[in-house]
Amino acid sequence: MDEITSKLQQEAQRIASKHPLPAFYTRFKAPLAVARRLFYNHPGIVRLRGIVEPEYNEALGHGVFHSSRVSIDCAALIQIETDGDHMAPAAVERLMVIGIYSGVLHDICREEKDHALIGAQRAKGLLEGFLLTPEEITCVSEAIRNHEAFASSASSGRQWAQLVSNCLYDADKFRWGADTFTHMLWHMMDYQSLSPLELIEKFPWGMSGAASVIETFRSATGRQFGPEIVEEGLEIGKEIYRYLIEHFRE
Ligand SMILES: [Fe+2]
Ligand SMILES: [Fe+2]
Repeated sequence: MDEITSKLQQEAQRIASKHPLPAFYTRFKAPLAVARRLFYNHPGIVRLRGIVEPEYNEALGHGVFHSSRVSIDCAALIQIETDGDHMAPAAVERLMVIGIYSGVLHDICREEKDHALIGAQRAKGLLEGFLLTPEEITCVSEAIRNHEAFASSASSGRQWAQLVSNCLYDADKFRWGADTFTHMLWHMMDYQSLSPLELIEKFPWGMSGAASVIETFRSATGRQFGPEIVEEGLEIGKEIYRYLIEHFRE
């Protein structure tokens, strides 16, 4: 990352640090802690991460930071969504693990044109050597296929698989909040060798895209808490846009 982009990222992180954490992250600390524990300690997940993390395209902003946040939020959403369903704790944990497998693999083919579809196929092959049932592998693959915004999504015949799919989608779209401005944007700017002026030109388009994702959350928890996450990101984005204009537009 060049010096200007890295300084802009630092400035964006400074701006973001002044904003409060969205309610999802303060209200659901317990499910998030369980999800984090599984992400870092579950043997199958640790093994899968060891295989795929070195392949992540960090340059596109879809590396370890992105996939770990998607995986952890996805698993937390699954626990929150199943609360009150009287499911056995082991069954809930199993679904959370499936959600994390989906999160770890969802952007594995990020640089491909149809990255959701191709990633879904690749995930199936990768998971063959893991202790998952065929139905669980299909669930992960379908969730990955369905994770793109503004694209049609196929519904799953099984309620639990639909839940994983919805939670993966929502956890991925939570990243259109502050994460866009603290991380993703700068990796993309660097990858595309954009100058600050070119970034200023593209900025309003990017902001309107983020705003329209608000309408697309799929789980009840995502619909309730997702809009605040994205809106908070947009507020941070507006401040960064003003900073860019002040410092780079003559
Ligand atoms: Fe993706
Ligand atoms: Fe993603």
